[in-house]
Amino acid sequence: MDRIRIVGGNKLNGTISISGAKNAALPLMIAALLTEETLILDNVPRLADVAQLQRILGNHGVDIMSAGKRSGDREYQGQTLHISAADIIDTTAPYELVSRMRASFWVIAPLIARMHEARVSLPGGCAIGTRPVDLLIMALEKLGADISIDGGYVVAKAPGGLRGADIAFPKVTVSGTHVALMAATLAKGTSVITNAACEPEVTDVADCLNKMGGRITGAGTPCIIVEGVDRLHGARHTVLPDRIEAGTYAMAVAMTGGEVQLSGARPELLQSALDVLCEAGATVSVNNDGIRIGRNGAGLRPVKVATAPFPGFPTDLQAQLMALMTCADGASVITETIFENRFMHVQELARFGARISLDGETATIRGIDRLRGAPVMATDLRASVSLVIAGLAAEGETMVNRVYHLDRGFERLEEKLSACGASIERIRD
Ligand code: EPZ
Repeated sequence: MDRIRIVGGNKLNGTISISGAKNAALPLMIAALLTEETLILDNVPRLADVAQLQRILGNHGVDIMSAGKRSGDREYQGQTLHISAADIIDTTAPYELVSRMRASFWVIAPLIARMHEARVSLPGGCAIGTRPVDLLIMALEKLGADISIDGGYVVAKAPGGLRGADIAFPKVTVSGTHVALMAATLAKGTSVITNAACEPEVTDVADCLNKMGGRITGAGTPCIIVEGVDRLHGARHTVLPDRIEAGTYAMAVAMTGGEVQLSGARPELLQSALDVLCEAGATVSVNNDGIRIGRNGAGLRPVKVATAPFPGFPTDLQAQLMALMTCADGASVITETIFENRFMHVQELARFGARISLDGETATIRGIDRLRGAPVMATDLRASVSLVIAGLAAEGETMVNRVYHLDRGFERLEEKLSACGASIERIRD
């Protein structure tokens, strides 16, 4: 398995182009199952998760063509996918495929909505917590699906099609909102989704569904109204920029010092993280091209942060912030409220000499002057990139093992960082 070698200590200076958002691209690709016409998605990041979802959709009979750059495209424009689900040949999503990527469970929504049946493997446990799908099932049942569990599979049937319903989520769930939204677009009548997730990726999917002929209002607020339509048609949509990737590089610059332009980043998608970075001593300015982040001279100040659904501080930036705070001048407190077990990076950050203590869902980080490089490894995507951030600032060499996780969610990570002066290389095994 590939590894990443970093020699820490270099400041980051230059420009980083922000890619399309993984967590929007995945549900957008899945939404293509809702129509027999072609959905064209621009700015899709080249990531292992996207490739894996292409395989999963292929299993249902979906044709996907990846187009190269078009004239006028920025140098680092993501790929364009032409996705055609004209003939769905199989409504089963098998364990071997779903267990590799949780988001693939979401195919259950378009399959039951359009084909009136689906058989999708339960995704199983995952490195960041138990992550049940009970609320996704609740949403589909409200819409009239008959659901049973058989041999580890969720079997959903709706012989007469889905019917609009009121779906009130007891807690904010991105996956639940995506599933409810996709399923309700082809249901008969009106659905009202309350306590809906307000994440920008949900809004992006709703925008795309509307381009496909859906009738959705309120996406981006806690109350989404979906008037079901008989059929959806093809459309063309550009995936929004990745706020987590932008936030990650912003944390990296705050960690190493220097100044970097995050080209294509949209500040309104990560305001809470930018506020925390300012509080920690970074300078943030917004310009026509994106966000400029820097830290020159000033030390890092400790912060107190709790993760929360959008527009709160994202759980997907919690590990990166923790890496940053290992070198703050004082004690920081970070509370994880979304996933109960998202602290695997704590043990690995300790290998750099970081001083972190855990008490339930709260971590206290006592800043030290300097981290020291170490061999490290993490078992999820954001935890892995927090180790890269630590390595960039640490004295000496860091070897990040199991790079597979980084490839799931960060496009050309080494290339983007080394172009800004980092000493980082991939070692292929
Ligand atoms: C999405 O996961 C993202 N994944 C995650 O990104 C992100 O961390 C998370 O939202 C929160 O923002 C994708 O978009 C592909 P949830 P999701 O449903 O949708 C509980 C990354 O690194 N819950 O909002 O699975 C759940 O256990 C990843 O890119 C139930 O209890 O998250 C969690 O505690 C990892 N029952 C909370 O809700 C359910 O049926 C929020 O989960 C569903 C969820």
